[in-house]
Amino acid sequence: MPRPDSLPAWRELQVLAAGPAPRISESFATDPARAQRYSAQVAGLFVDYSKQPVDDSILQALTGLAEQAELPAWIERLFTGEHINHTEDRPVLHMALRQEHSAVFPSEEFNVMPAVRQGYARMAEFCESVRSGHWQCGTGQTVTDVVNLGIGGSDLGPRMLATALTPYCDGRPRVHFVGNGDGSELHETLRGLDPETTLFLVVSKSFTTTETLANAELAREWIKAAVPAEGVSQHFVAISARSQRAEAFGAGLVLPFWDWVGGRFSVWSTVGTALAIAIGLPAFEALLEGARAMDAHFRHAPLQQNLPVVMGLLGIWHTNFLRVNQHVVLPYSNYLLWLPGYLQQLEMESNGKSVDRDGKPVSYATAPALWGEVGTNAQHAFMQRLHQGPQIVPVDFILPLKVNQPYPSQQDALVANCLAQAQALMEGRSADSLQADGASLAEHRVLPGNRPSTMILLDDLSPYCLGALLALYEHKVFVQSVIWYINAFDQWGVEEGKRLARRLLQDIEAGNPDEHDPSTRMLLQRYLRQR
Ligand code: F6P
Repeated sequence: MPRPDSLPAWRELQVLAAGPAPRISESFATDPARAQRYSAQVAGLFVDYSKQPVDDSILQALTGLAEQAELPAWIERLFTGEHINHTEDRPVLHMALRQEHSAVFPSEEFNVMPAVRQGYARMAEFCESVRSGHWQCGTGQTVTDVVNLGIGGSDLGPRMLATALTPYCDGRPRVHFVGNGDGSELHETLRGLDPETTLFLVVSKSFTTTETLANAELAREWIKAAVPAEGVSQHFVAISARSQRAEAFGAGLVLPFWDWVGGRFSVWSTVGTALAIAIGLPAFEALLEGARAMDAHFRHAPLQQNLPVVMGLLGIWHTNFLRVNQHVVLPYSNYLLWLPGYLQQLEMESNGKSVDRDGKPVSYATAPALWGEVGTNAQHAFMQRLHQGPQIVPVDFILPLKVNQPYPSQQDALVANCLAQAQALMEGRSADSLQADGASLAEHRVLPGNRPSTMILLDDLSPYCLGALLALYEHKVFVQSVIWYINAFDQWGVEEGKRLARRLLQDIEAGNPDEHDPSTRMLLQRYLRQR
C-alpha cells in the first residue's frame, strides 16, 4: 500500500487546507441548501455536518482520499472476515453479534453464526433465569443484585448503556459495575449489598486482567464469609474467551466469548450480560437491531452518503490538514454520562498508534485526544475554552430528541442549550454587534466563532438509536484506521503497561525498589516507607 501522505488526494487536500476558506456561517448564504445537503438520516439518527469547515471540493477530495486508500475494499475485508487484525492474526467480527441469527456470516467457509446463536441462547437463558427469580444463590434465595466485575471493554459498554437506558431498568435485580482495581469501588458497592443474594459476573476476555481477577478474589472472600462452601460457585458467572481459566476460577457457569471480538467492541456479546439483565432481552435485541441497521448502511451506502465514512473523513480533515489534535464529544442527556469515557477507549485505544500496518513509523497524526462531558454541565466547566480559547477544537453534539423523564420543560431547555452552543461556536459574537448592544469591555466579550461542530440527533434515547450510534462510531474508527493505514484492533501499548505493573508489584511485595530508574526508585522508596 502506498502511504496515505503520498496519495494524490492527500496533496490536493493540503492545497485546499492552505487556501482561503469562507467562514462557515457565510457558506450558508452562498448555498441556501447547505443544511439539507450536509445532513442525513440513518437508523434513528440525524447527522448535521453543515457546521463543519468543508465545501463540495473538500468533501470530494476527502472521498477521493478514501477511494485511493481503497476504503471500499477494506470494508469488504472487514465484513468478509479477513484477518485484518494482522498483528494478532484474527478477523474482526463483532458485527456477527448483531446479525440476524438466520444469517451466514462472514462466509459459508467460516460461519461464526452457529457459535453466536449458541452464545446468545445461553446468555438469554441465564438472563431470564436471573430476572424471573429462578437462579438460586448458595442459600437458595433469588438474586437481588448483580455486580459486573470487569474493566475497559469488559466494563465501559455495559456500564455506559445500563446508565443510558436507566428508564428501561426495572431493578429486578439491581445491576452494579465495578471496574477499577483500587479497592474503593468494590468496597463502596459491596457496602450496601447482601452477600446471600448477590451474584457476580466476572467479565474478562483474557481472564488474566489483574484488576478484574483481584476484585473477583475479594468478592469470593466476601461471599465465602456468608455462604456455605458448596453454594459459593452459584454466586459467580464468568464470561471469557478463555473458558478453562474461567472454570478453574470456580464459576457456577461460564458463558462463551470469542477471540474475534475486541474488548472495546464487545458490548453486543455475552459481555453485555449485565446490561441484558438490567434492561431485559427485548431491549437488548433492539440495541442489536439498531447496530445492524448501521452495519448495513456502512457496508452498502456510497462513500459520499455513508455516515461513518463522512464522519471519519471530517476527522481526517481536522487531524491531518487543519492540524487539530483534539476532539470533544458533548452528549446532551445526563443518561449519557459514560459516553465520553466509552468513546475514549473506542477511539484512542483503537487508533492511538504511530506505526503503520507494515510496522513503519507514521509521519502524520493519528487519533486526536477525545474528551467530553454531558451538557449542560460542560457549559459550566470547559466550554469557555472552546468559545474563546486560541485553539479550535471540533465538537460532536449528541442530542436525543425524546428522553424518558417526566419534565418536558427541562427537555426544551436542554435542546435550547445544545443548539445555542453549536450556534455560538459557529457564529461567534463580533465587536460590532456587542457595541451595538452597548456592551462594555467589548473586546473581552468577542467570540471569534467559525468553530466547527457536528450535531447528531437521536429520535429518542432508545436501545435502537443507541445501537446505531455506537456502530456509527465503531465504523468511523475503522474508516480512519484505513486512511491512516494502521491496525485499529490491537493495543500493544496497554499490554506493556500491564507487564511493567506486574514487575513493580513484585518489587513492592519484596520491598525491593532498586532495579528501576532513579525517579521510579525514589517514588517506590517513599511508598515502601509508609506501607
Ligand atoms: O485496557 C486494556 C484492555 O486490554 C482492553 O483492551 C480490554 O477491554 C481490557 O483490557 C480488559 O481486558 P479483559 O476483558 O481481557 O479483562
